[in-house]
Amino acid sequence: MADSPIPPSASLSAILNPNALFDNPLFAGGIGLAGLGAAAAFARRAVLSGGAMLRRRMLVNVEISRRDPSYPWILAWLSQPRENPGFVASRLTRIHNLSVATSTRSLDPAGSHTGPVQASFFLQPGYGRHIIRMRDGVYIAVNREKTSTANMSTGEPHETVTLTALWPHRHIFEEVFTQAHALSARAHEGKTVVYAARKLEWAPLGEPRKKRPLGSVILDEGVKEGIVADVQDFLSRQKWYVDRGIPYRRGYLLYGPPGSGKSSFIQALAGELDYSVAMINLSEVGVTDDHLSYLLTKLPKRSILLLEDADAAFQNRKQREADGYSGPTVTFSGLLNALDGLAAGEERIAFLTTNHIDRLDPALIRPGRVDMMVRIGEATRYQAGQMWDRFYGDIDADGSGRERFLRRLDQLGLFGEARGSDVPARHTSTAAIQGLFLFNKNDMEGAINMAEGLIPRTFEPEPQNPAGAIKSPA
Ligand SMILES: Nc1ncnc2c1ncn2[C@@H]1O[C@H](COP(=O)(O)OP(=O)(O)OP(=O)(O)O)[C@@H](O)[C@H]1O
Ligand SMILES: [Mg+2]
Repeated sequence: MADSPIPPSASLSAILNPNALFDNPLFAGGIGLAGLGAAAAFARRAVLSGGAMLRRRMLVNVEISRRDPSYPWILAWLSQPRENPGFVASRLTRIHNLSVATSTRSLDPAGSHTGPVQASFFLQPGYGRHIIRMRDGVYIAVNREKTSTANMSTGEPHETVTLTALWPHRHIFEEVFTQAHALSARAHEGKTVVYAARKLEWAPLGEPRKKRPLGSVILDEGVKEGIVADVQDFLSRQKWYVDRGIPYRRGYLLYGPPGSGKSSFIQALAGELDYSVAMINLSEVGVTDDHLSYLLTKLPKRSILLLEDADAAFQNRKQREADGYSGPTVTFSGLLNALDGLAAGEERIAFLTTNHIDRLDPALIRPGRVDMMVRIGEATRYQAGQMWDRFYGDIDADGSGRERFLRRLDQLGLFGEARGSDVPARHTSTAAIQGLFLFNKNDMEGAINMAEGLIPRTFEPEPQNPAGAIKSPA
């Protein structure tokens, strides 16, 4: 009957009669298809939600935020070359998206910004998903992504890396973090990391620098040893402080003329203690009281806080009154608060430096803020001799060159003693002596002959009325 033509009346009754409808092969086929489709959709939904459930139950995620100190370690660990696994695994784990992190470092030891620059490129897995093979049958899925929330202070997009492993393999993460940490420790071995304040974050300032040996900084007799002994004593007394409820902090103030080795000494000390340096320049415009106190609560672990140009906080107060508002800067009370206000961290070694001790407020020099003050002054005879030995010790075996050099400096009045009426008492800096020796590498005679260059130059303004200039008393 199916293949006999349907009379017009029958087709009408078929519309009204469901049985007739199902007898219609065209219609039945359609229903069947729709049913299949619905079943497929249902099955898909079930698989999806089952998958999601499975994923929740079977997988373990670890999310690492960019703000976490382990973030760069993990990125470095991810970009490590890995041994070649089998064909399938190698296809699976090939990373197709890479991003590059470039860091530059000045080759000029003085750290100038104009000299030659060394750049190192460092390939990291880019954004997206990657798979890492840990060992046979153990894989980690990695998803590096930018999230939509940006860091409000810097405007940088926030970033996370999520590591995913199967639940039974969850202990692999401990291994990942241990390896990543060891890798970064190895990269930093013999190096000093210098952090600088970038708005509300501490960011490494360039590549970690090679540790500066403490012996390469020559301070006057006993000065260096005194500070190092004090810091080491402090570091060994944590329990003493904690037992007595005293915040475990110590502050040092190094003051003196420019180029006397203050900053160099602090960097060398950090290297000696295997600490990093967290540096803020207080004369920088843009660092506010709020920034300062916030940053001090988040000091990187095992770091020495270095506040350069501490006098700026006092200077700003006056200057601002004199020449109006010139941008946000740290104020005196802001500095004191940051150093020992409620928000100040519990553990800290701080070094403050200044060229103008006279501009500091006595309130700064109070235990807990500054416990030890040391003047790092102009070059003394002892320092000049020691520096000579470091530079020419091997070619000046009998020390006669050193004697002549020191005598020459004496003749020039450079150790603060006048020589007759035309050689006034004056001083030179250790930085200037270093400059002279660097210019005359392996050339003692050159250094002695050019010693006159150590006389500090005074940059006087052009005389207003050259003829018959009136000199005011110094
Ligand atoms: N006492 C020193 N021993 C060895 N090197 C020194 C010494 N003093 C200065 N130098 C050299 O001179 C340069 C400048 O020194 P540094 O920056 O440490 O001086 P500073 O006292 O911090 O000066 P400023 O007060 O201007 O910040 C560095 O290259 C450093 O190596
Ligand atoms: Mg300095």
